[in-house]
Amino acid sequence: MRSWAAFLALLPVALATRPFLNEPDTGIEEVLGDTPEGTLPDLENIVGLPDFDWAARRYLNASSYTYYRLGAAGEWSYRNNLEAYGRFRFRPRTMVDIRGIESRLSTSILGYNFSVPFYISPCARAGLAHPDAEVNFMKAANEEGILYIPSLYATLSMEEIAAAKPEDGSQVHFQQLYLDSNDTATQELFSRAEKLDAKAIVFTIDSAADGNRQRGNRYSPPSEETEYVLSDWEYYAKIREMTKLPIILKGIQTVEDVRLAVQHEVPAVILSNHGGRQLDSAPSPLEIALEVYEEDPELFEQIEIYADGGVRYGADVLKLLALGVRAVGVGRPFMFANAYGVEGVRHAIQLLKHELAIDAGNLGLPDLKKIDASYVKWNSNGWYT
Ligand SMILES: Cc1cc2nc3c(=O)[nH]c(=O)nc-3n(C[C@H](O)[C@H](O)[C@H](O)COP(=O)(O)O)c2cc1C
Ligand SMILES: *[C@@H]1O[C@H](CO)[C@@H](O)[C@H](O)[C@H]1NC(C)=O
Ligand SMILES: *[C@@H]1O[C@H](CO)[C@@H](O)[C@H](O)[C@H]1NC(C)=O
Ligand SMILES: *[C@@H]1O[C@H](CO)[C@@H](O)[C@H](O)[C@H]1NC(C)=O
Repeated sequence: MRSWAAFLALLPVALATRPFLNEPDTGIEEVLGDTPEGTLPDLENIVGLPDFDWAARRYLNASSYTYYRLGAAGEWSYRNNLEAYGRFRFRPRTMVDIRGIESRLSTSILGYNFSVPFYISPCARAGLAHPDAEVNFMKAANEEGILYIPSLYATLSMEEIAAAKPEDGSQVHFQQLYLDSNDTATQELFSRAEKLDAKAIVFTIDSAADGNRQRGNRYSPPSEETEYVLSDWEYYAKIREMTKLPIILKGIQTVEDVRLAVQHEVPAVILSNHGGRQLDSAPSPLEIALEVYEEDPELFEQIEIYADGGVRYGADVLKLLALGVRAVGVGRPFMFANAYGVEGVRHAIQLLKHELAIDAGNLGLPDLKKIDASYVKWNSNGWYT
């Protein structure tokens, strides 16, 4: 009995040790707290990506906000995606001339040049935040020279989204797809993407079954019949013959699967747990990248590896790049920024670009391409605490 009482006495303390804040407290309440529900604060008051979540929470209705915000089950993976970056430390170098770093942020993704190594991840239903929906992402991505990957489940059709590209054909976009055993439908999707001049297909493979989405189910009950979707290596070999476009795999979560992707000549993979929306306790992209780095770092040379999940700051981007990740996707912050339309999306891109430059400068990097694992430090033993 005594130990039980002692346990109960300690419980509140244990629970209080790690309060989770949806976004860290950086004083937004003090400055913008009187923003009326259903309105947006001026865009110039938005000083970082987490602010867009705060603003959208007041502006969107509960079901729209919840659709963007939700994670699977108890949302452990959702929170862990955000918190994992905080478990990594930098090893900043001083006495390095880093002037001009802001003009040395560019990278190539599958051979296409972009101004920075981050891109807009494929997210469904941008129309919940703005009537122009995904068109805003395509336009802002073009203006800022970054990659946008529209989702198959976008509000607008892939044709309507691609029509927002400049006519000179200068903008590169990839198309995300979900595929199943209906080869006729798959062939149609590939043909449409090719016709729209998408440069690659992003095939999402982390959603073989429905996600356990309790927060979301309060607003839109799950479909009665769960669909279990076909995707295996034999299937990959087959669909590769159905299109001339490279097929990137999105949702790889272990070093074994990266190795298999190399063996099956996949051009690139995206390390992702789908923003913590599918399988709770699936690892954060930083943890997956670390597994690859610790067990088989050469994989980063053998295949282009991108990653997404929980990236909110320039520093988060740097931590993934340090392990060998080539480009980093951002999902929710752009969905929330889209409440402001194309200007909001542009503002989000510009904020993250600026953070990337100043953080790289303070890290002592004269050129983003020079980053490697010597710029970060972690404690593998303490990783899961
Ligand atoms: C509202 C929403 C819808 C999404 N829809 C898709 C989708 O249709 N296809 C897909 O591959 N990933 C989808 N994702 C996952 C994102 O591509 C990406 O993996 C994730 O958002 C990254 O985490 P972050 O939101 O913390 O940046 C979606 C994510 C969100 C938030
Ligand atoms: C992309 O950048 C590389 C290196 O900066 C450059 O050599 C190449 O010409 C560029 N390609 C295009 C298509 O602009
Ligand atoms: C919430 O907003 C979306 C987008 O405007 C709209 O489609 C939906 O009907 C609204 N839902 C409720 C419950 O008001
Ligand atoms: C497969 O897809 C095609 C094209 O979308 C459709 O016409 C057909 O009905 C589908 N077949 C099945 C079995 O669902």
